[in-house]
Amino acid sequence: LFARPIVFVKGCVRLADLPPMDRVEIAFAGRSNVGKSSLINALCGTSSLARTSNTPGRTQELNIFESQSEELRIVDMPGYGYAKAPEPKVKAWTQLIHQYLTGRATLRRVYVLIDSRHGPKDNDISVMNELDRAAVSYQVVLTKADKPLSKDVEKVVAMTRAAIAKRPAAHPEVLLTSSEKGEGLKELRTEIAMLLES
Ligand code: GTP
Ligand code: MG
Repeated sequence: LFARPIVFVKGCVRLADLPPMDRVEIAFAGRSNVGKSSLINALCGTSSLARTSNTPGRTQELNIFESQSEELRIVDMPGYGYAKAPEPKVKAWTQLIHQYLTGRATLRRVYVLIDSRHGPKDNDISVMNELDRAAVSYQVVLTKADKPLSKDVEKVVAMTRAAIAKRPAAHPEVLLTSSEKGEGLKELRTEIAMLLES
C-alpha cells in the first residue's frame, strides 16, 4: 500500500474545494503540533510529503494526498486547540474540521492523534464526542513515544485505553507510535490496509 508513491493533490480551505467522493478516505486529526503531518510522512516513508514544523499551526488547510496504487485518499488536517493564530482563522479551521469530520460519506476512519506524554485533553474528548455522535469510525494513535519525558508512557497508554473503553461505541485498539523511531508504524499500516479490504 505505501510502497507505491503517495502524491500531494491539493490544499482545501473550504468544503467546496474537496475532490469528489470517489475514494476511501482516512483523516489525521489532533491538537496542533501533535505530529499529524510527521506521521503521514513516516507512514509514506518520506520526510517531505506533508509539511511539518516546530511551530504549532503549520498545517492550515485540509491537505489531500492520494495513493497511486490504491483507491486511498489521505487527509492531513489543521490542528485544533491552537490559540495563537488570529481568531477568525481559528474559527474558520474549526468549522472546516467539524464539517469535514462529520459530513463526509467517504471518510472511512479518522485517526485521532494524542501526545503520548499527555494523554487526551478536553478538546480531544470533544472531537471524539462529535465523532461518536456522527457515528464516524476513529482510532486513537498516541504520538512521540520516543520523547525523553515519555518514561510514564505505559501509564498514559493504560489511561487512554481505559478512557476509550468507556466510550459509547467500540473502537479499534489505541496504538503507540513514534514517527521519529518508527515504533507502531507497521501496525498502523496494517490497520489502514485492512480498511481498504473491508
Ligand atoms: P500542525 O500542522 O501545526 O497542527 O502540527 P502537526 O500535528 O502536523 O505536527 P508536525 O507533524 O508538524 O510535528 C510537530 C513537531 O513535532 C515537529 O517539530 C516534529 O518534528 C515533531 N514530531 C512529530 N512526530 C514526532 C515523533 O514521533 N517524535 C519526535 N521526537 N518528534 C516528533
Ligand atoms: Mg501539520
